[in-house]
Amino acid sequence: MPNLPSRDELLALLQAHGQEHVLRFWDELDATGRAQLAGQLQAIDWENFDGWVKEYVLDPKPVALPANVKPAPHYPLTPRNAAEAVLYEGAGRRGEALLQAGRVAAFTVAGGQGTRLGYDGPKGSLPISPVKNKTLFQLFAESLARAQEKYRTVIPWYILTSPINDGPTRDFFKANGFFGLDPKRVRFFIQGTMPAIGLDGKLLLQAKDSLALSPNGHGGSLLALQQSGALKEMADRRIDHISYWQVDNPLVQMFDPLFLGLHDLCNSDLSSRGLVKTGPFEKLGNYCLVNGKVTIIEYSDMPEDLAKSKGPDGRLRFRVGSPAIHIIRRDFVERLTEGGRLKLPFHRAVKKVPCLDEAGAPVTPAEANAVKLEMFIFDALPLAGKPVILEADRAEQFGPVKNASGIDSVDSSRKLQQERAAVWLEAAGIRIPRQADGSLDCTLELSPRRYLDRADVVAAKDAFTAPESGTQAYFE
Ligand code: UTP
Repeated sequence: MPNLPSRDELLALLQAHGQEHVLRFWDELDATGRAQLAGQLQAIDWENFDGWVKEYVLDPKPVALPANVKPAPHYPLTPRNAAEAVLYEGAGRRGEALLQAGRVAAFTVAGGQGTRLGYDGPKGSLPISPVKNKTLFQLFAESLARAQEKYRTVIPWYILTSPINDGPTRDFFKANGFFGLDPKRVRFFIQGTMPAIGLDGKLLLQAKDSLALSPNGHGGSLLALQQSGALKEMADRRIDHISYWQVDNPLVQMFDPLFLGLHDLCNSDLSSRGLVKTGPFEKLGNYCLVNGKVTIIEYSDMPEDLAKSKGPDGRLRFRVGSPAIHIIRRDFVERLTEGGRLKLPFHRAVKKVPCLDEAGAPVTPAEANAVKLEMFIFDALPLAGKPVILEADRAEQFGPVKNASGIDSVDSSRKLQQERAAVWLEAAGIRIPRQADGSLDCTLELSPRRYLDRADVVAAKDAFTAPESGTQAYFE
């Protein structure tokens, strides 16, 4: 194996950081096992490692609220005045032109572990549509195909995976014929990992030949874009803007011309959709201004009094939260990742991480035993020039699947998908059966292959037959 350090070299390196215990089983390993462990150890940023152990594991400070936090300004859903109306109109046209000119790439981050959902397989392969049980990946692929048709363009699709789900994700696309997309325009690439660090500051082994590693967070997607060569490929394809969304939101509108155009016309490096929160404690990151920089403060870090504070108009001051839908300028990612390094802070999560004990026996901890470190995409916001936040209509854009049941589950997402379909059909003059309380009295699904947005549905209004009460209706 070329360029792999010897045991003695590794030992010297590890001793300097108090981590030599990870070589405990070295003598038992075959060449492949040694190469794997050595490669993992080599990939660690040792220059910063001791600092991270201190800062995030041994001596973590409570997250301090920065002084002088204000709500970040945002563009509203509909223009407030004539000047904004002109801006929005121009932005819509600009966005369409960018799409038509092939300047936009699609980017789905799908490297997470989906632990809350507990689904066995890549989250994108989760069946989610209300009638046909289409998977998340299929819904995105069909939307993408329709956008290509609508804007007479080509939109390459970049999909971030992790070392854990990369193979299964590729296999899933292959098994489904890439849902009709050109495989040459779908590129998977693997994000980086971080080692779990035990609460005593020591690296954990998951096997005799492997550290306990986990994906380094969606913030790591930016570095993965650079390191995989995807960013370079985008430059070669003359892509200027990257439409970013998370794999768990089937309602996302990934190619909204208004959003794209506003981002471009405002020269924003990183633009974000904003949702008006359902209440002060909704679990969304809050868009804030800290020292003049747009910054997300997570719901869990927002003091109660600030979360509840109201402005003179009686509305919550911090009323706009993040659904994690962004447009990113390609050259901003190039700048952020220059030299193959990305300087975003880590967020710590104390978790139960299965590992080996000193004798090499597997341990399934009953209590949290380690710290996992992740970077978050929104930490790039304070580094971005002229960041734009554009309000989104929640019902049109947001139906995430995070949990096995209850809030943000398959059930809640299916309801939201149907409600949006109903509203679009009603806008086209189709009568949708509803119960006395307004809830739907049928099961509805619109194929995104034909109906990307409300305008597509309205334009096809004569093609629909109104569904009967209590029936399932699928429109393709
Ligand atoms: P979440 O923060 O919801 O994490 O990810 P998750 O891993 O999907 O689920 P839990 O927390 O384990 O239950 C939000 C989005 O970011 C992606 C996920 O795939 C999802 O699209 N993500 C998250 C990555 O791509 N890489 C990561 O390291 C973490």
